[in-house]
Amino acid sequence: MKFFVDTADVPAIAELNALGMVDGVTTNPSLILKSGRDILEVTKEICSIVSGPVSAEVVALTADEMIAEGRKLAEIAPNITVKVPLTWDGLKTCKVLSDEGKMVNVTLCFSVNQALLAAKAGATFISPFVGRLDDINLDGMELISDIRQVYDNYGFDTQILAASIRTVNHVTQCALVGADVMTAPPSVIKSLINHPLTDKGIDQFMKDWAKTGQKIL
Ligand code: E4P
Repeated sequence: MKFFVDTADVPAIAELNALGMVDGVTTNPSLILKSGRDILEVTKEICSIVSGPVSAEVVALTADEMIAEGRKLAEIAPNITVKVPLTWDGLKTCKVLSDEGKMVNVTLCFSVNQALLAAKAGATFISPFVGRLDDINLDGMELISDIRQVYDNYGFDTQILAASIRTVNHVTQCALVGADVMTAPPSVIKSLINHPLTDKGIDQFMKDWAKTGQKIL
């Protein structure tokens, strides 16, 4: 499973990238707001650090304007993935830009039927939002699993990019049900390493090593 980082925070991306943990990046208008940076400038900086797909989202609501915005965003770098919402205008934009050879991420997906439409429109990635479904007492992970089954039934090659990942358990479940990619905030990715038995084991080894009186260097 590929790891994308869901942020426009450049130092946080650079830190995880240096560890080999960044296969790509996803941003959205809320994350751009949070960064306090200009979208074109910050996205360009992210693309200079990360070689994998970097999603940059259009904000227009009509296809013609979305296509124009998407083309402008795609000029930033060859690894830009144009992110479009799951509306008919977004799907039209997806079809046009995919036919031009651009990567497209169709976002705000909340049903299997929406995921089917995105795949037929040529999406490179479909982004089902796990956490936001959980927020309204639905089962976000069931959606990932259902889309996996449907895409496999028909051989769609659109990649399932599990989004709105809020917990480490979400990450485990995504890997178990076969998401191609999961995108999570840096804090969630950094928490994946935590285990009390690892900390306890290191503590014991340090105490015993001190008793040997030895040094390696
Ligand atoms: C996906 O691409 C979105 O940027 C993101 O995962 C949304 O997450 P949230 O529901 O925690 O805002």
